[in-house]
Amino acid sequence: MTGPAAKTWRVGIAGLGTVGAGLLNLLSDRPEFAPAGGRVAIGGVSARSRSRPRPFDISNLPWFDDPVALATSSEVDLFVELIGGSDGPAKAAVEAALAAGKPVVTANKALIAEHGAELAALAEQRGAPLLFEAAVMGGTPAVKMLREAMVGDEIKSVAGILNGTCNYILTEMEATGRPFAEVLAEAQRLGYAEADPTMDVGGFDAAHKISILAALAFGCAPNFAAAEIEGIDQVELLDIRLARDLGYRIKLVASADRSPDGVLVRVHPSLAPLSHPLAQAGGALNALFIEGARIGRIFLQGPGAGAGPTAAAVAADIADVMTGAVRPVFQAPAATLAAFTPVEPSKSVGRAYLRFLVRDEPGVIAAVSETLAEAGVSIESFLQKPVEDAGGVPIVLTTHAVAESVLKAAIERIAGLPAVIDRPRLLRIARI
Ligand code: HSE
Repeated sequence: MTGPAAKTWRVGIAGLGTVGAGLLNLLSDRPEFAPAGGRVAIGGVSARSRSRPRPFDISNLPWFDDPVALATSSEVDLFVELIGGSDGPAKAAVEAALAAGKPVVTANKALIAEHGAELAALAEQRGAPLLFEAAVMGGTPAVKMLREAMVGDEIKSVAGILNGTCNYILTEMEATGRPFAEVLAEAQRLGYAEADPTMDVGGFDAAHKISILAALAFGCAPNFAAAEIEGIDQVELLDIRLARDLGYRIKLVASADRSPDGVLVRVHPSLAPLSHPLAQAGGALNALFIEGARIGRIFLQGPGAGAGPTAAAVAADIADVMTGAVRPVFQAPAATLAAFTPVEPSKSVGRAYLRFLVRDEPGVIAAVSETLAEAGVSIESFLQKPVEDAGGVPIVLTTHAVAESVLKAAIERIAGLPAVIDRPRLLRIARI
């Protein structure tokens, strides 16, 4: 074979954590990985520490202390960024590689969600591919699904479970009755969680990922700042149990919906009916619904993290570079990308789960339901269930669809009733 596809591509890998190790293993285990006849060689590696004990030998690989030097080295044809973080060395190295006209493959969701538009502009100006399949859903191909396979359709919504750590924690809390903090510590021991667990449990990791998917789905620039974010750190076992009694399971759902008013990007704990595929995706799995105007609904489920799956997604992007596939970084050329108009979350309409902890005395239920009725909130189901050690009696209800601003005003009034003991809890019922 002739042309660029037949050459040996010297890959520079910056970051030798879980995914970096997975990529080195993949490349050594698969010598036959030679897309379009080209071959892969390691042009150099870089990490925070050269001497840290690792499960593989890097002594024979060219070492670079500085990832920027690796990214711009004449020994490197393609730069793979696996350092992580929206700024700092990851951003500096990616910018340097693109400025030098070198293709970049990254797994860095924070970088793409927060700086994707400017990096796309630089990449397209320099004629260098910038690819990030591994940034969203690890080994499950959500990015190529939207950027390539579904680009012929108009996407209406994207919604799913994009953080494996949160999914693992919620699944274990329900299955074992253990509280949040205990299960988080276990997720960290198992290596699911990010270095800073706030990124996972605070919903920020899922928000980075859904911001990228929204950009790909709707042909806009990523707009992480417009995402409304709530994590799982406030989810209590009591709500997990009560939601289950009502036929629901609590999941951290990330969604992006397009309407004539603009785009609403949100991450929050949501109730999914027990039989729904999102409720069935347990443990560290990721799952995603994509709805196109013509194609209808597509459901993807698979591993969203882990060395092997994520490295396979990085390798798929390396294959795209080697085969010469050229596409805009997002859906349209970077110069034409605009930030979408965010929809004010208070204007969004949906069903909700409300839980109040009240003193068990006459007239409380009437007062709660009257307040909701006065506000125009229609109750769909209602449950009062004595729970041992709850410190009061939980009243739980689900509502019919209602504007969020109306619902929040009603909740505030209920919180002020003398019989209401604790802060009311509001969870949305997923629109899936
Ligand atoms: N911490 C992430 C998760 C890993 O739990 O999904 C990959 O982004």
